[in-house]
Formats: sequence, structure tokens, C-alpha cells
Amino acid sequence: MSCSYVLILAQLLVVQLVVRPVRGSAVYTSSSDRVLGAGNRLPLRELSRSPLCEGLVQIYGYPCEEHEVTTDDGFILTLQRIPYGLKGADSGHGDGDMSKDRRRPPLLMQHGLFSGGESWLLSPPDENLAFRLVEQGYEVWIANGRTSRWSHGHAKWRPEDKEYWDWSWDEMALYDVPAMLRHIYTVRNGSKVTYLGHSQGTIMGLAAFSLRKITHMVEAAILLCPIAYLDHVSSAFVRVAASVYIDKLLMSAGLHEFNLRSEVGAELVGRVCDHKGVDCSDLLAAITGPNCCLNRTRTWFELHWSSEATSVRNLAHLSQMIRSGTFCRYNFGWFSNVRHYGYFYPPIYPLSNVPISLPMMLLFGGADSLADPYDVAHLMISLPQIPRLVYLSRYAHMDFIVGINGAEDFFDQIFDFLNHVQNGSYTAPTELPAEIAQLLGDRRLQNTISSRRSQQRTLLIQNG
Ligand SMILES: *[C@@H]1O[C@H](CO)[C@@H](O)[C@H](O)[C@H]1NC(C)=O
Ligand SMILES: *[C@@H]1O[C@H](CO)[C@@H](O)[C@H](O)[C@H]1NC(C)=O
Ligand SMILES: *[C@@H]1O[C@H](CO)[C@@H](O)[C@H](O)[C@H]1NC(C)=O
Repeated sequence: MSCSYVLILAQLLVVQLVVRPVRGSAVYTSSSDRVLGAGNRLPLRELSRSPLCEGLVQIYGYPCEEHEVTTDDGFILTLQRIPYGLKGADSGHGDGDMSKDRRRPPLLMQHGLFSGGESWLLSPPDENLAFRLVEQGYEVWIANGRTSRWSHGHAKWRPEDKEYWDWSWDEMALYDVPAMLRHIYTVRNGSKVTYLGHSQGTIMGLAAFSLRKITHMVEAAILLCPIAYLDHVSSAFVRVAASVYIDKLLMSAGLHEFNLRSEVGAELVGRVCDHKGVDCSDLLAAITGPNCCLNRTRTWFELHWSSEATSVRNLAHLSQMIRSGTFCRYNFGWFSNVRHYGYFYPPIYPLSNVPISLPMMLLFGGADSLADPYDVAHLMISLPQIPRLVYLSRYAHMDFIVGINGAEDFFDQIFDFLNHVQNGSYTAPTELPAEIAQLLGDRRLQNTISSRRSQQRTLLIQNG
């Protein structure tokens, strides 16, 4: 698509967005209703604001505390702590003569885009990674990103202020991750924390680890649907959205907050869905891939999966990753980059700086249309060591958090990894698994990666 075509298209859409009343024409209303289902639009205001603890943890008999953490840039996040399981406070990991504290290593679960901490708690306890980890002897902390409904806003700004939405995942990596880790580390008297993230939660983790400021507090990392590179996203929906510069449209329309389930969100979804080659008969599949293992009769998940807003700037940052294939900070444009970073280009997050001593596990799916195996392979060889890998060929993006077969398919491999880390016997694999070796056998990937690597070196030198 040529630049001028994109520009014209963008202008047309902006004009329509701004000029037309938000409710839109019958065509687009029905289009978005077709996609989201008229009755399925999330009753945002009606969703309980009661703490996650009561609604999704204590009802199963688990203890739960809510903690508040303020980031250096003023966001007030909440964390839910599940300190022990149904077997009681005295059970735990390892044998009886360890102190109670050491038997419950802390583990932080960071959700992905368009969701909040509830995404870990939607499945019944026996199918649920969070509860299973608690039963395995871990103390689980549920993260809630900035601006999510479970967090408590900002010290200064309100959701109506544009400053409230002036961030991307850069700030989540630079402020949210450190604030939460520091809090848990302090509460737990210096116990290192295992970081477990899904999707955008992995972007935040990887970016934070590459800067090395917080890695002394991190025991290990488990990354579900790991993302650092997004240039092979296979979702036609997402590719179209990124290629028509949806982010710029929203920005030039003066919007700072984006919610898929809002009127504007539904309208944009409808427009993207009307593009040739985009099949939105199942919107979840159109965005995340054909999930093998969801129980679609559980409508509460359908209602929750896109229930959180994000900032337009965050969408812009993600779109930049799709368009450029780089893992770097937000690109403000040449001149503003100089102001922010002292250089024309945004600095790269140097993945090769992730400490080699940090045990890492990557889990990814062959049907995932966001964390594409190709991009995961690229990430893997950008890291200083080979992580432990779990590849599930049938799995798409959502199967990892709300799939019904998680307990059979991968929970035990996570427990085994964590056991090795806890008893000090973890060693990184020395060879790439066959599937990945095969992907790397692909000349195209090798070329992309070697040219990236030399570019990255140059940029790093330039950025000092
Ligand atoms: C924290 O660690 C110190 C020093 O090891 C110890 O004296 C103290 O009892 C610990 N506190 C808790 C709450 O475990
Ligand atoms: C799907 O969820 C419903 C409601 O929780 C449950 O009754 C049913 O057994 C589940 N089906 C499978 C295959 O897990
Ligand atoms: C550590 O844990 C792993 C996994 O449970 C186990 O296979 C291994 O034998 C343990 N090693 C030691 C030294 O305890």
C-alpha cells in the first residue's frame, strides 16, 4: 500500500469519525453488532467493582489480600496476594525443616493487553494455573496494570484527563514492573520473585529484564506467548489495523483512551472487519488465532477478554512493533525522539543484556496469530541463553490462560521448571529443540536476524 493511499484513507476515516455522530450509520452499527453481538457488548458499568479477592478468589475458599502500590509516575496499582492454598498456611514447597517463608516462594502473574488481573482467575480452580501454583506451594500475586478497572487510578490525573492515558508499555516496563517487584520483595523480606507473564505481560518483563535494574529481585521468568518481535503477526485483523494506522486515526481524532467494547472501538472493529481478507465471524479467533481448547459456553470469559481499555499511545507502540519489527522504545518521530532520547531513533531494548543467570521458560503455540512462532524464534536467539521451551502446536493465544486442558498440557512442565529453580538444579538447555532448529533452518529468518543483529549493534553504539 503506498503512503499516499494510506494518508487519504486515514483522512477519510478521521473525517468520518469526527464528523459523524458516534452512533454511526446503520451499516456500521450493524457491522459492529454482528461482530461483538448486540447483546454481548460488555455492560462496563455493571461489572462489579468489588475487589477481585472477594469475587474470584475467596469464593473458592482461598485466602486473599489486596495490596496497593504506587508507581514512580503516580499510578496506583493493586496486587492480589494469595499467600497459601486450601491445605493451609503450614503446607508449602520443599520439606518441613525450611522456614515457613522459604517454603512459599513468591510469584507474580502479569496479564496481557485489554485485560486485567481477572484473566488469571476465570477458570475453575482445578483448571486454573494461579490456583494450581498456590497448591504447589507458591505464593501467588496477581498484577493489575495501570488504568485497569481493578487498579486505583492515578495520584493526580483522572480518566478524563489526557495525561491519564499518556503512556505505552514502555512505562509499564519502566514503572509498573519495578514497583510491583519492589513491593513483593519488601513484603517478603528479600525473597526473589518469579515473574510469570502473558503476551503484553511478557513484553513488559523482557523490556524490564533487558535494562537489568530489577533483575536482582527476579528468581526466574515464565513467559506465555512471549513477545518481543511482532513483525510476523499473522492475524489479518491486527495487520490491517496496524497498516491503516488505526493509532494515528485515533490520535488525530483527539482520542487518548481505547476500548474495544466502546462505541468508537466497536465502530473501528466493524471497519477493520469489512476489509477484504478479514474474517470476523469469530472476533476472538480473528485476533488471537483459532484457540483449540476454550469452553465457549463459559460466556463470562467471552465477556471479559476485551473488557479493559488501553491507551491509544500503547496501541501506537504495538503497531510500530508490527510495522518495524523492532523491540525498542516508543517512536515519537524524529524531532521528538531527540527531545526524549537524545537521538533520532528510539533506543532498542538490548535483549542480549538479560542476565544469563536468569532461568527462563518460554511457552508458545503453533496456532497463535499474535505471538507467531517465527517471532518467538527470533526472540529466543536474541537472548543470551537458550530458555526452556514448551511448544504446543494446537495452541493459540488464549488457550494458555483460559484453555481447559492446561493442567494436562503444560502446568506440570511449569512446576518442574520451578522445582529445578527452587532446588538450585536448573540448567539452561544446550541445544535448540528440533521445531525451532527447523524454523531457523529457514533462510529468510536467518537473513532477517543477521541483518537485525548488525543494525542493533550499530544503534546500541550510537545510543551509548
Ligand atoms: C526478615 O529477615 C530478617 C533477617 O533475616 C529476620 O530477622 C526477620 O525476622 C525477617 N522478617 C520476617 C517477617 O520474616
Ligand atoms: C464447559 O463449561 C460448562 C460451564 O462451566 C461446563 O458445564 C462444561 O462441562 C464445560 N465443558 C467442558 C468440555 O469442559
Ligand atoms: C530438583 O527438582 C527436580 C524436579 O522436581 C527433581 O527432578 C530433582 O531431582 C531435584 N534435585 C535436587 C538436587 O533435589
